Amino acid sequence: MANWEDDLPTEAAALRGVPFFEGLTPEDLERLARIGHRRVFAAGEPMVSKDEIGGGLFIILTGSATVETGGKMHGLGPGQFFGEMALLAGKPRSATVTAAEPVEAMTLQTMYFRPFLIKNPSVAVTILEVVAERLREVQDRIDRGQTATDSEA
Ligand code: CMP
Repeated sequence: MANWEDDLPTEAAALRGVPFFEGLTPEDLERLARIGHRRVFAAGEPMVSKDEIGGGLFIILTGSATVETGGKMHGLGPGQFFGEMALLAGKPRSATVTAAEPVEAMTLQTMYFRPFLIKNPSVAVTILEVVAERLREVQDRIDRGQTATDSEA
């Protein structure tokens, strides 16, 4: 008999491969997939631009992207997400994120994803953990008085 994962709609099956959604039930995955949209970006294309208004979370399904922030370039690959800062703070985008190669991403709009987070605290906690790590990495460099130029020298 077929595994239930084989019966998942394509969108939900794509999300099943994302580590931070691994604890979700098939029903939650399908709910998430229904509110998500798959988008494709060409290499070099901005996926979000600094100061742009409008939240929404992006989850990279395939390909990779770069974000320059705090004086350093960060790489984001399959299974990683971005866009949580504007989504959570209700502020413009803090940085530009650019596709480093062709990227396929799932986008989740704030108005649908916020209520989803409230119903799925484990996903909210995972996002918090990643935000704390990102903040810590930038903070550590500030404390060391180090810029990207210093670290490359
Ligand atoms: P947001 O401000 O919505 O849009 C730009 C995104 O870049 C931001 O959300 C984060 O998801 C991402 N970002 C910001 N700082 C870092 C970082 N230090 N490492 C990885 N991603 C980051």
